[in-house]
Amino acid sequence: MDSIRIVGGVPLSGTIHISGAKNAALPLMTCGLLTDERLVLSNVAKLADLATMADLLAQHGLAVEPEGRTLSIGGRITNTEAPYDIVRKMRASFLVLGPLLARCREARVSLPGGCEIGTRPVDLHLNGLESMGAVMKLEAGYINATAPTGLHGANIVFPFVSVGATENLLMAATLADGVTTLKNAAREPEISDLVRCLTAMGAKIKGIGTDTLVIEGVKTLHGANHAILPDRIETGTYACAAAITGGNLLLENARAEDLGAVLASLQEAGVVVTPEGNGFRVARANGLHGVDVMTEPFPGFPTDMQAQFMALMAVAEGASMVTETIFENRFMHVPELNRMGARINAHGSSAIIRGVPKLSGAPVMATDLRASVSLVLAGLAAQGETTISRVYHLDRGYEAVEQKLAACGARIERVA
Ligand code: EPZ
Repeated sequence: MDSIRIVGGVPLSGTIHISGAKNAALPLMTCGLLTDERLVLSNVAKLADLATMADLLAQHGLAVEPEGRTLSIGGRITNTEAPYDIVRKMRASFLVLGPLLARCREARVSLPGGCEIGTRPVDLHLNGLESMGAVMKLEAGYINATAPTGLHGANIVFPFVSVGATENLLMAATLADGVTTLKNAAREPEISDLVRCLTAMGAKIKGIGTDTLVIEGVKTLHGANHAILPDRIETGTYACAAAITGGNLLLENARAEDLGAVLASLQEAGVVVTPEGNGFRVARANGLHGVDVMTEPFPGFPTDMQAQFMALMAVAEGASMVTETIFENRFMHVPELNRMGARINAHGSSAIIRGVPKLSGAPVMATDLRASVSLVLAGLAAQGETTISRVYHLDRGYEAVEQKLAACGARIERVA
C-alpha cells in the first residue's frame, strides 16, 4: 500500500488547475444506462472511483471508452445486476438502480452497506422508487426491484435532503410515464450539472437549482455531449492548502459561486479570496483566527469540506467549533490530527478546536477520502515529516494530488 511523505513548512505558491467534479461524474456516467446512443462526457478526472464506475457499467453491457479526459459511453444493457463486490467498494454504484428500472423494468442491485463515515442507508431511494411503481424485495443483501408495467410519475417529498436519492429518482423519472415532482430535493451544483446533461439528452425537467424538480417523462432519451463542472470540493481543499501554509495560490478553472459558504468562512478566518482569470486567488493576509462552522446541505457549508476546514482551524488563533449535521461518524481525522499536536475535542456531532501555533509531523493513517486529505493539509503546515498511510482513500477523489502540490513548492512524494 502506498504512503505519502510530506516535509511541511513551505508556503505554497503557484497555480493549481481544478479537475472535473467526482460527485458529478459518477451520476453522469450512470446516465449512459438511460440511452443506447453515445453519451460523451468531457473534463473527466482520472480517479479510482470513476474507474470503478466504468467497470460497473461495462458489466452491465455498456462500452465505456476513455480517451484522455473524455469518456464515451454507449451500447445496450445486457445485464441488470450490480454485484456486491463492486457496490461495496463504492456507494455511488447504487445510482444504477433508477436508470436500470426505468429502462429494463428490473434490477438486482446489492445494498451498498455502510462505510467509514456512517451507516448510510438508502431508504429514501427505495421509498421513492416504490411510489413510482417499483416493487422492492431484499434478498441475500441484494435489492430485487421490478416494475412490471414500467415506472409512473409520482409526487415525492424527501423527509430530509439526500443527494443520491435526488439523483436516483431524477434519472428514473426522466423515462417514467407521467410527471414526477421531487420536493425538498438536493440543490448541490452536481445535481444541476446532472439536470443539464439529462436535458441535453432530451429529458423534460423544470426547477434546476431549486429544491423542487418537476420531471415530465419521455419515451426515450438520446445521446449528448456534456462537459463536467469543476470539482468544488477539490477547489475548497486547495484553498485551505493556501491558507494553512500561509501561501498564495491561483485556482484555475474554479467556480467561486459553487463554494459560497466555504469562501465566506475562509474570509471570516482571515483568508483573502480574489477573482482572477477563470478562477480565483487564495492568500492569507495576516493571522488566521478561529471560525465556527456547521455542515448543511447546499448552499450551506458542505460536509465534504468539514475535515479540511478543521485542519485549518487547528492552527488558527483562538477556538472554533465544527458541527457535523450530515453524517454520524465523520470525525475520524480528529485523533490523527491530535497526534500531530492539534488540540481538538470531539463530542457527539460537535468538535471544539483550540488553535496551536504549530503542528508537528508524525506517521498518521488515512481512514476515508476527506479525512485523508485533511492529514495532507496538516502535513503541509506541520514542522518536520508526516507520513500518511492507506492513501488509496485519497486516490478515490483527488487527481494527481502530490503532483499538483509539488508544482506549488510542497515537499511531497508518494512512497510505494
Ligand atoms: C453524496 O453522498 C456524496 N457522494 C458525498 O460525498 C457527500 O458527502 C453527500 O452526498 C452529502 O453531500 C457522491 O455524490 C458520490 P446523501 P450521498 O444521500 O448521496 C442519509 C465524498 O467525500 N441518507 O446526501 O450518499 C445519509 O446516511 C462523498 O465525495 C439516508 O438516511 O449522501 C446521510 O447521513 C462522501 N437515507 C445523509 O442522509 C437515504 O436513503 C445525506 O446523505 C439516503 C441518505
